[in-house]
Amino acid sequence: MIDFMSSRVEIDLVKLGSNVEVLLKLYGAKQIGIMGVTKGICGTPKIAQVLVSKGIQLLADSKIGNLKKMREADIKAELVLLRTPSLSETDLVIKYADISINTELAVIKSLSAAALRRDVQHKIILMIDMGDMREGILPVDLSPFIEEVLLLPAIKIVGIGANFACLGGVIPTDEKMKSLCLLAAHTQAVYQLPLAYISGGNSANYNWFLVSENNGTINNLRLGESIFLGRETLGRTKIPDMFTDVFTFVAEVIESKMKSSVPDGDTGQNAFGESPQFQNRGLIRRAILGVGCQDVLVTGLTPRLDIEILGSSSDHTVIDSKRADLQVGDEVRFDLNYGALLSVMTSSDVDKLYIS
Ligand SMILES: Cc1ncc(COP(=O)(O)O)c(C=O)c1O
Repeated sequence: MIDFMSSRVEIDLVKLGSNVEVLLKLYGAKQIGIMGVTKGICGTPKIAQVLVSKGIQLLADSKIGNLKKMREADIKAELVLLRTPSLSETDLVIKYADISINTELAVIKSLSAAALRRDVQHKIILMIDMGDMREGILPVDLSPFIEEVLLLPAIKIVGIGANFACLGGVIPTDEKMKSLCLLAAHTQAVYQLPLAYISGGNSANYNWFLVSENNGTINNLRLGESIFLGRETLGRTKIPDMFTDVFTFVAEVIESKMKSSVPDGDTGQNAFGESPQFQNRGLIRRAILGVGCQDVLVTGLTPRLDIEILGSSSDHTVIDSKRADLQVGDEVRFDLNYGALLSVMTSSDVDKLYIS
């Protein structure tokens, strides 16, 4: 009977806890609270629990299934749906999310109807598009939008927020943050809305936070990558005192032979319709790992040894083992970027091993 996979991700819960502590202290010094974004870890309760035990009170995820997992595991945090809901899933949103982010009136009306059916009130955060051109109400449309929402009986606006550096790569500058604060002030004054969350962005806000003398009324950031990979996301620079190796991907060598560094024969497209080029290095030790694009975003892996990934197909990753002299059965360890983290956490063929 097979009861383990040859590839795994090792998750150091102690380093993770330390990362959470560092960020809570850093941002807390300027009264900025943190929403822990759990989509990168697929809402895994064991990991979410570390965030909560260190003091994070709000967990946000873009997938209802992940919120459901955390709710059913009785994680003691408010759960936030971090993507504007589909019209077809509003009932589920009411069931599994305490708060959702929103940008469409039709969806909010449907949320209100679903909340009424369950006899609850649903809290929403309105997202404003401040230039990154992904989700968001345009600033000019905010007032009439709010007036419509205020007519809905089961919906409570508890915050406004903006997202940066996700689609357009737009930087959250002081100017952008001031504009968001002005919108919040206007909303609070005109509609007598006490906004609990003025959520200025994500892990890309780190540099703004460092240089800004005054964070105005921004009192929340939604952080995923900083927590899990210890980095800000505009230049992927390590944040001081943070661990960048909370997660380690480990794969096993299934073949190791001295072979040519270039294909032998006429070449066409490979398994993924690409026409890869290979550098002629003569004979090299080619090691094959028993994992491929089906298991992990291979381009998001960085080997900890001085070896080089030459290419991958669905279930194989080929490596120039250079001086490492990898042999069958050896394990190779990698750092992961956020895309690779997402892929291994969602892969049922990659074991999760917790170090605590
Ligand atoms: C709306 C929103 N906020 C925050 C985040 C977290 O971003 P990051 O992981 O860069 O902190 C994301 C992305 O996951 C997002 O989509």
